[in-house]
Amino acid sequence: MQIRRATSVQNQLLQATSAMSEDKQLKIHLIAAARPNFMKVAPLWRVLSVASWCEPHIVHTGQHYDANMSEAFFRDLRLPEPHFHLEVGSGSHAEQTGNVMIAYERVVQIHRPDVIIVVGDVNPTVACALVGAKMWIPVIHLEAGLRSRDRRMPEEINRLMTDAIADVLWTPSLDANENLRSEGIPEERIEFVGNIMIDSFMMMRDAIEADDTRTVMGLVAGRYGIVTLHRPANVDSRETLGHLVAELVAVGRELPLVFAIHPRTLKRLVEFDLLSQLERAAGLRLTEPLGYVQFMNLVCGAAAVITDSGGVQEETTFLGIPCLTLRENTERPITITEGSNRLVTAAKLAAAVGEALLLRRGSGKAPARWDGATAERCAADLRRRFLTTRRCNAASAGRAGQKEL
Ligand code: UD1
Ligand code: UDP
Repeated sequence: MQIRRATSVQNQLLQATSAMSEDKQLKIHLIAAARPNFMKVAPLWRVLSVASWCEPHIVHTGQHYDANMSEAFFRDLRLPEPHFHLEVGSGSHAEQTGNVMIAYERVVQIHRPDVIIVVGDVNPTVACALVGAKMWIPVIHLEAGLRSRDRRMPEEINRLMTDAIADVLWTPSLDANENLRSEGIPEERIEFVGNIMIDSFMMMRDAIEADDTRTVMGLVAGRYGIVTLHRPANVDSRETLGHLVAELVAVGRELPLVFAIHPRTLKRLVEFDLLSQLERAAGLRLTEPLGYVQFMNLVCGAAAVITDSGGVQEETTFLGIPCLTLRENTERPITITEGSNRLVTAAKLAAAVGEALLLRRGSGKAPARWDGATAERCAADLRRRFLTTRRCNAASAGRAGQKEL
């Protein structure tokens, strides 16, 4: 009953937008907040910014603000300066969510978009979706339908909430479609567009291959591993992080590791007095967070990756590089069933690394629609849902010579 009522409001919103005057371009807000959002927004920006029928604007909420967590990605991924910067910064979950809502609502009151696109599963994803839903602006969720079924993860709450209120759900894999269906989401709200992270990789592939980070660091392809960790469940407790540090030091004796340390993790390593153990370990090379091109240059040559990152699980699956995920579950099960990912505990990490080194690289396969054409499919879906045929024709006729989708 609730779903039916919600759907009818959503249909009204979609109809209201479709009825826009013919000469008006579709004004789109692309919401980006944190590191993993920038690579999801970049391929969309690339496609939409040259389309004649829409006018995309980037809204940076400011969740990640260090140069190497934000600016570096705008530069690497060839994104323009954000059109709106909310500068909300760090805080508790309620502070981040509430402050983004307050700041974004002010933007929307003045610069009302026709469509809001939110990506991923961070706090601003749900915050901006809430603002849009309450202001009767169609909201699209890119990377919808993923479920870890672990509500201790803040991201799982964000995914559930965002998918419940978004009007259109763009999914990265078919298991996500199944999850949404089983939650009673009507079929017409779901579109299987594929994995946008693979678009970013393919878009930047030449730069990644030409990059010299691996060489400058003196690393030999296939003879080192990479580590990234930032999940609160892994890094926010002294005991768990201490255990992980000890295991990484042990693994480093067999396989040199590059550990690109996330700011949350660095803060905890200092607070728990664990950083010096890592610094002293012969097989470990510690770095600040790396830019996308540099990081992916290292990933491409790695023998194995140890991580708790969502995006890295996907990138390694695409590249067929063994990925050991330090988590009890994943919202991306396809990276295990079809890819090169495996869930591990800290206690079994060393053994898992040993086994991973015996695997042939490239043994995984890319899931369906992880093909670099996701942004194009998103654009096609936007046109289908929000523009009448007549409007599209008029728009493209008026922009002869420009790339048209
Ligand atoms: C956030 C997302 C998580 C995502 C991760 C990607 C939520 C709930 N969490 O987690 O889903 O996987 O980003 O990296 O949205 N900090 C800095 N500089 C920065 C940003 C953060 O020093 O540029 C420090 C601050 O001390 C901050 C802490 O890192 O309090 C955590 O940052 P926050 O954005 O709250 O969460 P993440 O762990 O980054
Ligand atoms: N990444 C990066 N530099 C790093 C670590 C990760 O560019 O030092 C990239 C990685 O390739 C992936 C994205 O950041 O594209 C994943 O972000 P993160 O792990 O912060 O978030 P999650 O995906 O877990 O939400």
